[in-house]
Amino acid sequence: MHVLITGANGFIGRALSRRLCRQARLGGAPLTRLSLLDLTLDDPPVAPFVHPVAGDLADAPWLRHTLAELPVDLIFHLASIPGGLAEQQYELARRVNLDATLVLLEAGKKQVEAGGRAPVFVFASTIAVFGAMTGPVDDDTPLRPLLTYGAHKLVGEILVADFSRHGWIDGRSLRIPGVLARPPARTGQLSAFLSDMVRELAAGRAFTCPMSPAATTWASSLPCVLENLLHAATLPAASLVAGRSFTLPTLHFSMTQLVDAIASVHGTGVRDRVSYAPQERIESLFGRFPQLATAAADAAGFHRDDDLPTLVRQAVVQD
Ligand SMILES: NC(=O)c1ccc[n+]([C@@H]2O[C@H](COP(=O)([O-])OP(=O)(O)OC[C@H]3O[C@@H](n4cnc5c(N)ncnc54)[C@H](O)[C@@H]3O)[C@@H](O)[C@H]2O)c1
Repeated sequence: MHVLITGANGFIGRALSRRLCRQARLGGAPLTRLSLLDLTLDDPPVAPFVHPVAGDLADAPWLRHTLAELPVDLIFHLASIPGGLAEQQYELARRVNLDATLVLLEAGKKQVEAGGRAPVFVFASTIAVFGAMTGPVDDDTPLRPLLTYGAHKLVGEILVADFSRHGWIDGRSLRIPGVLARPPARTGQLSAFLSDMVRELAAGRAFTCPMSPAATTWASSLPCVLENLLHAATLPAASLVAGRSFTLPTLHFSMTQLVDAIASVHGTGVRDRVSYAPQERIESLFGRFPQLATAAADAAGFHRDDDLPTLVRQAVVQD
């Protein structure tokens, strides 16, 4: 089985690469090749079947040439320009989040037209496709993204569904919530403060939260999201008749509840080290999340962290 991961050097991609390298098989099939694609690859996992491929997805001729080399059975498309950066650099976001996604999808079409099998295509979408959420969210909630990033991801979901309808790929789009806890390096994610909050307070340092204590948000741990990505890759196509986009189950909590959970895991002193300086833009984007029902994803076997203390513990586990 040839698996390709784009964005393999990113926060989720690095963990997924290491996991797949370790298990060396997926859904009962051994991995014959694991292609790890990113702009650069820092200490990729080492195994005879691992092939790091450094290059720019926005370079369409290079990407087409690279994809034409070998048929691929499964693509995890994780590479993207995140929300904060996409707001500042529209052209870059368009080339990576839209154009490169289309080139990847068209590689599936070419593969099928050449007589091969349609690759399974797991697309990392985002809860940013919802935009302003004014009431409880479920599988029928209208999608009205407020950021270019969310708009591009929504177009990606639509293309994944359309290419699947043609039989050119076997697509699954996962609307991923905030994932904790990403490393401190700044890469343009507006929601990175949540990761900082868990990491800093867990490490015994002070943290000023840019949202008010009552602000409510959604998040999952990295191990939980990895399980869901792997589950998406092995879901039988027959279970996708109702749709190919899934809003992943996740936890809904206030900042006070998060601090309580960190305190329950890392000691009550956590409460003395947290202060609040709410920023309206951050709170309007991430602090008014309503209750969430994910019936389709629940039925398909996706899962959330068991509870907030579990999320906190899992968030700081080094994979
Ligand atoms: N982490 C989260 O909280 C979260 C939440 C919702 C959705 N997602 C989605 O999950 C996916 C992975 O997220 P992440 O946190 O690992 O992101 P990340 O920013 O850490 O990693 C993305 C990777 O894509 C690569 N990339 C960007 N442009 C590229 C290009 N032109 N050519 C080749 N590679 C390029 C980057 O170098 C980076 O390594 C993304 O698509 C993201 O939108 C993540």
